[in-house]
Amino acid sequence: MAVLAVASEAFPVVKTGGLADVIGSLPKALLSQGVATRTLIPAYPIVLANCGDKEVVGQMSVLGENVTLWASHCHGLELLLVDCPALFDRRGGPYLDDQGKDHPDNWRRFALLSAVGARIAAEGVEDWRPDIVQLHDWQAGLTAAYMRAASVDIPTIITIHNLAFQGQFPASVFPALGLPDHFFHVNALEYYGDISFLKAGIRMSDAVTTVSPTYAREILSEELGMGMAGVLQSRRSVLSGIVNGIDEDIWNPLTDPYIDQNYGLETIEQRQANREAVERVFGLTPGDGAIISIISRLTWQKGIDLLAPVVPGIIDRGARLIVIGEGDPNIVHGLAEQAQMHSGRVVVHLGFSEESAHLLHAGSDIVIQPSRFEPCGLTQLYALRYGAIPIVARTGGLAETVIDANEAAIAAGVATGFQFRPGSIEDLYNAIDRALTTFENVRSWHRLQTQAMRTDFGWGRSADRYARLYRQLTRRHADSAG
Ligand code: ADP
Ligand code: GLC
Repeated sequence: MAVLAVASEAFPVVKTGGLADVIGSLPKALLSQGVATRTLIPAYPIVLANCGDKEVVGQMSVLGENVTLWASHCHGLELLLVDCPALFDRRGGPYLDDQGKDHPDNWRRFALLSAVGARIAAEGVEDWRPDIVQLHDWQAGLTAAYMRAASVDIPTIITIHNLAFQGQFPASVFPALGLPDHFFHVNALEYYGDISFLKAGIRMSDAVTTVSPTYAREILSEELGMGMAGVLQSRRSVLSGIVNGIDEDIWNPLTDPYIDQNYGLETIEQRQANREAVERVFGLTPGDGAIISIISRLTWQKGIDLLAPVVPGIIDRGARLIVIGEGDPNIVHGLAEQAQMHSGRVVVHLGFSEESAHLLHAGSDIVIQPSRFEPCGLTQLYALRYGAIPIVARTGGLAETVIDANEAAIAAGVATGFQFRPGSIEDLYNAIDRALTTFENVRSWHRLQTQAMRTDFGWGRSADRYARLYRQLTRRHADSAG
């Protein structure tokens, strides 16, 4: 089974968040299911720099642009790189310029990515042909539309990693997409008078998945459907949730090269060296109080604005707080104020550092994810694997991957963390309070850590579900063709 995945980022060559982790780790897990994936991403400068060996496998003109297609076997991934300097060779990140603003032609950049995806689906690359095309998020959504326009008869799946990003653009760009006029329609791209690349993917793919079963249910509601609830309800019969796994080789405290002292289930006490490393590296006043971390985009989605009000309570309880991330200037400002007020006890580190994320998982006692909504969330999975106890909002993937330490769960020995009501400062504080009380009881905490670290978050079961979905779609397709 050959899959063409179309996406806008892939770890370790380019990453802004969890999407990259999934795109970088799922193909390896699928290999053992007999599924070989080739992943199409834009050749941003950082991608060209990170993928040394590559060869040209195609030259084409797409949307009036000259495109070179490269193939690269890179960090265990089979990548196909869309090289179009006019659209991708620029400063900034995949989506934002170096002033933090959206690239003004993102519609064109990701339409081009999608059009190349459809071209590969139609013509293959050298003698390779995909059996399935899987589109990830809005950036790849138009692939389904370009495939339909060219009558390419291969099943497609769109995977929604975050419904908040819909690739919504003014209707005025529609003519430049080179799609049939009748695609500007409520059953295709048209979206409240604009167009949406994500909607095109949802309406025109054979199956729709999202990254946890809970989120698959939540997005059918008006509240979390974010304007797409009706569209998703119309695809309900083909919508499912498959929870993300993690790359257990990269996120493994026994072998992690970024941490101070490797450790495992049998040697949890050696985390202490990592706690001390965290104190040193982040400039925390050394002590026995719990170290609480946030490793996140600093945005409203992630509920980071709920934190500043609970900082005084955290400090009163003798705990310390480290926040690492980038995001909304207002949220950052609120946190920076707290850091100034509580020097040595609250540290805010602005930036994105893979290395720091690993060390914080290894050396923190608690990791908080106060998201208002969370399709899956990977940070809590990394935290569990490293024995850092997660405090999470009861939503999306967070709700189903962390088992709250209520009395019943503790008695049954299954608790792995703490949950609270999304958006509630009071409930967040109560969860922190419960966690810090448990932290004071060394035996109870150790039991929680052991249970957390034992949890299986590998890709095994989920890769199996994707493989089954691919087979089901190709079988159904063959039946309807024959
Ligand atoms: P999302 O993709 O919505 O941001 P996820 O929890 O799925 O949320 O994934 C976030 C990913 O980004 C994780 O790999 C996490 O470690 C990483 N990450 C987030 N913020 C930072 C940061 N400031 N530095 C390093 N890694 C970060
Ligand atoms: C998105 C979601 C996050 C999910 C990630 C990978 O960024 O916000 O919840 O874990 O995609 O699927």
